[in-house]
Amino acid sequence: MSDRPLLIVILAAGKGTRMKSARPKVLHAVAGRSMLAHVLALSADLGAHGIAVVVGPDMDDVRAEVRAWAPEAKIYEQREQRGTGDAVLAAREAIAAHSGDVLVLYADTPLTRRPSLEAMRRQLDEGAGVCVLGFVAADPTGYGRLLTGSDGALLAIREHKDASPAELLVRLCNSGVIGFRVDDLAGLLERIGNNNAKGEFYLTDAVEIARGDGLRSSVVTCAEDEVLGVNSRDQLATAEAIWQRRARAVAMAAGVTMVAPETVWLAYDTAFGRDVVVEPNVFFGPGVTIEDDVHIRANCYLEGIDGKSRAGLRIAEGATVGPFARLRPGTTIGRDVHIGNFVEVKNATMEDGAKANHLSYVGDARVGAGANIGAGTIFCNYDGFNKNLCDVGAGVFIGSNSALVAPVRIGAGAYVAAGSTITRDVAADALAIERAEQTEKPQWAAQYRIKMAAQKKR
Ligand code: UD1
Ligand code: CA
Repeated sequence: MSDRPLLIVILAAGKGTRMKSARPKVLHAVAGRSMLAHVLALSADLGAHGIAVVVGPDMDDVRAEVRAWAPEAKIYEQREQRGTGDAVLAAREAIAAHSGDVLVLYADTPLTRRPSLEAMRRQLDEGAGVCVLGFVAADPTGYGRLLTGSDGALLAIREHKDASPAELLVRLCNSGVIGFRVDDLAGLLERIGNNNAKGEFYLTDAVEIARGDGLRSSVVTCAEDEVLGVNSRDQLATAEAIWQRRARAVAMAAGVTMVAPETVWLAYDTAFGRDVVVEPNVFFGPGVTIEDDVHIRANCYLEGIDGKSRAGLRIAEGATVGPFARLRPGTTIGRDVHIGNFVEVKNATMEDGAKANHLSYVGDARVGAGANIGAGTIFCNYDGFNKNLCDVGAGVFIGSNSALVAPVRIGAGAYVAAGSTITRDVAADALAIERAEQTEKPQWAAQYRIKMAAQKKR
């Protein structure tokens, strides 16, 4: 790979009015992180020496997202949207300070893959002054057309609105991704004018200007789905679908069984061990790690990061989860643990071999190895102000329909009788029982029926 330093300029200034959203377009998520974060991650993956992000005015949330994902990136503001050429020039300071390759990416195009960009860098290595990532569009309407010479060299990019009828027939289109190996790139960009149908400064004009300088331009092509730009919610869903299809294929190739892959939803960072089985309709939010031989049964919702916590979710070897389980951030599911139907676990550790098989809430807790949490048990972790902890020792047996009112500790090996509300600590190996003594009235039911039946006859 090229050893010239790489600067990546990411255009993120677009408001995305067609999204009909209070949020800037590039903050909308694909696979659990923003489109901008996808492009920043790709830039880091490529080994960029510098990243410059061009944002619009009043985009504090976009700036914060850049800082969260790429703290070393520089942020520049384009005050008015005067075209892609003008947008890149907003980062002129970074460009002028850089010597090496410059790649321009759009923050609303989250599906581009590393090999395509590496192929572009190779073209620059081989002497191209400009390299464009192109694709053959099923429907080229709206895209810039790549006009090539008989030798395949790129001569010019013609925007749809400026194209002649003959040029409109060209299906080889500009993805928007463009790379430069130009010592004085800022000098080249400054010569771009706005004498065109949109009155904008087109970055794409750089190809013809470079040609005037005696620089060769070339094209690398990729599949259309790598360069899908998102302008609407509909295209956002399309991008999500493409991303999911790829990620499922990667997971299956690495040894995950998916019974109905098209119904499994992964996040950008979902990590699987080998011989994991995922049944239909399972949703993985971000921050989830699944180790070997885990079995996720149908209809589970698993996430390690949400709006409040980034504490992660780990499911260790041999555990079984679901059907219909919900596992939330801060949770560790130990080896061979069983989490059954309608069980929610949040910020809790279930140590090896523990079980919560039916209808429970386990929140802010440690559940010791081999403990059994009976059906309908609720960990009452919240008093309306604070979250408190429950500590359940190894081998404890919690009878069905119990409530553990935190903070409370149940010593190892203890039993809690069914239906108990436990508010005080229980010693190891003790039995805690908290309910009224059962009384019995012999023949009461039979006499009751006789009395009521007689009343009804009257
Ligand atoms: C651009 C390309 C076109 C290509 C298409 C691919 C140009 C002139 N045209 O057209 O050849 O086929 O992308 O999708 O480059 N932006 C700014 N500031 C601006 C203008 C744009 O940051 O002043 C950003 C937008 O937010 C967007 C990207 O640049 O992310 C592309 O701009 P857009 O106006 O959508 O260009 P297209 O007309 O789609
Ligand atoms: Ca566009």
